[in-house]
Amino acid sequence: MARDFTSVGVTGLGTMGAGIVEVFARGGLRVVATEVDDAALERGRGVLARSTARAVAKGRLEQAEADALHGRVTFTTDLAGLAGCDLVVEAVPERPALKHELFRRLDDVVAPGAVLATNTSSLSVTDIAVATAHPERVVGMHFFNPAPVQRLVEVVTTVVTDDEVRDSVRALAERLGKTPVVVGDRAGFIGNALLFGYLGHAVAMLESGRATRDDIDTAARVGLGYPMGPLALLDLIGLDTAEAILTTMYEQGRDRLHAPSPLLTELVAAGHLGRKTGRGFFVYPPPGSGGGDTTAPDAGGPAAGVREVGRVVVVATGDDDSAAAVDDRLGAWVDDLAAVGVDVDRVTVGNSGDGDARLAEADVVLVDVPAGDSGSALVATVTSTLTDGTVVALTGAGADGSLAGLAAATGRPADVVGLQPVTPVASAPLVEVVVGLDTSESTVATTRALCERLGRTAVTTRDRAGRLVEALLVPYLCDALRMVQDGYASADDVDTAMRNGCGLPRGPVQALDELGLDVALDAARRLHSETGEPGHAPPPLLTQLVAAGRLGTRTGEGVRRHP
Ligand SMILES: NC(=O)c1ccc[n+]([C@@H]2O[C@H](COP(=O)([O-])OP(=O)(O)OC[C@H]3O[C@@H](n4cnc5c(N)ncnc54)[C@H](O)[C@@H]3O)[C@@H](O)[C@H]2O)c1
Repeated sequence: MARDFTSVGVTGLGTMGAGIVEVFARGGLRVVATEVDDAALERGRGVLARSTARAVAKGRLEQAEADALHGRVTFTTDLAGLAGCDLVVEAVPERPALKHELFRRLDDVVAPGAVLATNTSSLSVTDIAVATAHPERVVGMHFFNPAPVQRLVEVVTTVVTDDEVRDSVRALAERLGKTPVVVGDRAGFIGNALLFGYLGHAVAMLESGRATRDDIDTAARVGLGYPMGPLALLDLIGLDTAEAILTTMYEQGRDRLHAPSPLLTELVAAGHLGRKTGRGFFVYPPPGSGGGDTTAPDAGGPAAGVREVGRVVVVATGDDDSAAAVDDRLGAWVDDLAAVGVDVDRVTVGNSGDGDARLAEADVVLVDVPAGDSGSALVATVTSTLTDGTVVALTGAGADGSLAGLAAATGRPADVVGLQPVTPVASAPLVEVVVGLDTSESTVATTRALCERLGRTAVTTRDRAGRLVEALLVPYLCDALRMVQDGYASADDVDTAMRNGCGLPRGPVQALDELGLDVALDAARRLHSETGEPGHAPPPLLTQLVAAGRLGTRTGEGVRRHP
């Protein structure tokens, strides 16, 4: 039988605590809210007052309800005020010594049967629990930011947590209109472990020069349909908080992919902590200045060297067998080019014979390179008849990850660029413009301008496994599947956590089934073989599901069944 909580305490009324007070008071509970000093208490009171006033102004809350809500909250700087509470949730800063000390003091204040909960994002709940006289009544109650909005609450249990305490806290979260997920005590639990793995990886991609800050964020927003790019999200979370969480994850799991990138550490050391200090990866106007837009401290100016494109030749290569598949891939380009008034021609260049005379007049040639060994010879044939300055855009499976060799085979590597449309997951047409070792700025600028003219969003990336979108997505999907494989969380819990805690349009298991497990496995293998990072090794469950023919929604069964 779940116990009936009626009076709860919240200690620490900062970013999270003030929101947690609101959640409880809205749910009809009496709340005792405590802080270290009067100034912090007043700040917390102010946050609650403004939040309910906004809800009233927007018609989401009646004035009478708001008054009743405030009537249920008592503010005090005296910890002894928590004596009558059945549950106390702690939301003080993420410092182990501070939390241990607080729990020892709470032990002396509350009744022996009262539940003590921590809102920690990454610290060990077990460590915090054993600092008390009754570790069996200690749980994690991990709300997400902003607490009144995000529905996920991770209820974190330790090996000594009472089942009754777990069930009661879960029932309370449900009563508050939240979506609780019960998880064991691992660094980052479900939500942060998956989120910060992904965020840390995005920073590493920036650090290694794979793409610019803006293109990495655009790849996530447009390519994956996420509400924010990873670097903007890190600025919102706070780079110091992110560094602390990644450090804990790294110390616990020793996965080098979780070690905070030197760039992150450098920004934190410089005091660039994100929105709260006015600068992180982006620059922000001062609070209250009215501006909300970010400015660009490090992005390039207007694209230089865009060449006129009046005539494009789309080239299918190889034998006739692949004609239908090539048609599928190139047809959309041909139609869209014609629609914007570009003079477009299609030619097929076979395994033998010369290039086509029409190629000589092209400003851009778009070449579909087949998978396999014939790519270099075909590309050399196509480019033998081009005039100087023609952009050679290589697309298709054969161009993916092979740009350096193909560009060399043309003898004009400055004009060669890769062009990979992102179809399976993109929310809008996105094209990855892949730069090789010698690709000129003008070639990139001309290609990007042409993509934009065709209504596609372009991002520029170096020729690395998974380019941008798959490189951001696939390691995260593998991390999620690993949680399922290891029995840490169910597929449903993982999906629920990422949808309700991070506001993602779909959970990772669903995303994996939609992308195709074979596609994910192929990308994971390429990432792993390129970097040698053990953390990029595909989880055995993925390999086995693919071997069993369970490729996702396409085959009717992947991680889940799709009737
Ligand atoms: N910020 C987030 O997005 C987020 C999300 C989920 C969980 N968390 C976790 O929630 C906890 C709080 O984080 P935050 O971002 O709200 O921090 P914060 O710094 O915004 O707020 C912490 C508050 O605790 C108060 N405080 C400090 N010592 C205290 C004490 N001894 N007694 C009472 N109050 C005390 C401070 O005055 C401050 O107001 C951390 O464990 C953090 O990891 C944060």
